[in-house]
Formats: sequence, structure tokens, C-alpha cells
Amino acid sequence: MAQTTGNGRAGGKGAQLRAYLLGLIDGELKPHEKLPTERELAESFGVTRLTVRRALDQLGYEGRVYRTQGAGTFVSEPRIAKSVELTSFTQDMRARGLVPGSLETQVEEIPAGAEIGARLALSPREHVAHLFRVRTADGEPMCIEHTYIPAKIAPGLAARAIEGSLYQLLTETYHLKVEKAEQSIHATVLDPPLAKLLGVPEFSPAFKVQRVAYDARNQRIEYAESVYRADRYSYDFIIYRTTRDTAN
Ligand code: GLP
Repeated sequence: MAQTTGNGRAGGKGAQLRAYLLGLIDGELKPHEKLPTERELAESFGVTRLTVRRALDQLGYEGRVYRTQGAGTFVSEPRIAKSVELTSFTQDMRARGLVPGSLETQVEEIPAGAEIGARLALSPREHVAHLFRVRTADGEPMCIEHTYIPAKIAPGLAARAIEGSLYQLLTETYHLKVEKAEQSIHATVLDPPLAKLLGVPEFSPAFKVQRVAYDARNQRIEYAESVYRADRYSYDFIIYRTTRDTAN
């Protein structure tokens, strides 16, 4: 006979119950489908309903199931590995059904200097391609972007006409694929020249986003500073509770 221990963990039968439930969650059942009731599980495994409830609570803490008062226990949606996805401007706009574009594109090759060099782990004398773009959605300015790419990993980039997606160009031409990024977002206001470029009133609110992007080998491939109109852009996150303290 399986014994329920003082701390609520069952022995062999409790472990079997957990393995069975995980099998259902990962196998037969789809997200939002219902698990068997506490009573059914208690009967089939020969354990108390308290033991079943504890096993379900544990799966709840782990984010595998959720419970709805009076209705039962259901399989949770699988977690997305990246709660904030790493996307390009082109992908962001297409996902919103908008046509991405760029205005005022300028590209030059310059020494990194102290600040950009530090961001890209380059010496100040090493060269970077500096790309300036006003990014548009359906022709309307959305964001102003300064992007710096080390010249040694993307030779000749500054001599190219960069019209579409930079990330696509980096992947297709230089086999440089952005895999992760450190990103920070600050609130700011648009000074008169930036406000004019974005076609909004002076000192309108904006987001300043700084990104250092890395490839799969942890090589820094981009530093970018983007200023987005706050009236047209928002940051949406899916956030998960990770502690056991779900009471408040
Ligand atoms: C976003 C990022 C930039 C990146 C850009 C690439 O705007 N904040 O760091 O350079 O996407 O966009 P695309 O591939 O559309 O040129």
C-alpha cells in the first residue's frame, strides 16, 4: 500500500500518478483539454483525493495544468521558449499586417570609436558599417534607427544598397544570423529634428531601444539604437509566475 507521507508526497503510487498525468499532458491531451477528475484518479490509483490534489497542485505550480473552480483541471498551453521574441523590424511590421519600408537610408564605414567599440567589443579604431534609416510601416515613419555592424564580419556592407531587411541581408550574404540579443528600453521624448523625421509634434514621447545582437557562437554582430514613436508602438510580454506563492 502506498503511504502518503507527512509532507504530502506519496510513495510509489503517488509517483505513478504523477508519471501518468505527465504522460497525458505530453501525449494524448491537447492544451485546454480536461484531465480526469480527482475522484476518478483517486479510485484508479488507490490513493486519497488529497494525494491527487497535491499532485495536481504541483503540476499547477510547474505551469503544466491550470484549474478552474467547479470545472476541473486542464492542460496548459506549452510555454514559448522565448517569452519576448527576437524579431526584426520587417518581421514586426509584417506580423501586424503592415508593409515595412525605409526612408533616408544612409550607410558609411567609420571607426567604431570608444562607445560603439565598447558595445561591440571592438577597439575604437576598428571599423563598423553605420546604417541610418527611418523605418516606415505602410509608408508612415515609425522609428529612427542607427545600426552598427563590425566591418570585419560583413566586408563591403557599407558599399551596398540596403533596401529591405538588414537581418535578411546579413543572413543571406554574410551567413550572420542573430540568435540572441541584450536589449534595453528607455522612455524618451523626441527633440525637434527627430520629431520632424517621424512626422509628430516636437517632444512627443518615444521609446529608445538599444540592442546588442549575437550569433549562435556568441559573436557580437550588431549594436543598434532605435527610437520608436510611443503613440504607434507597444511592447507586449508574456510573463510567467515562477514562485509557488500563487495566493497573492
Ligand atoms: C529591429 C531592431 C534592430 C535591427 C532591425 C533589423 O528594429 N531593433 O536592432 O537592426 O530590427 O530590421 P530589418 O531586418 O527589418 O532591417
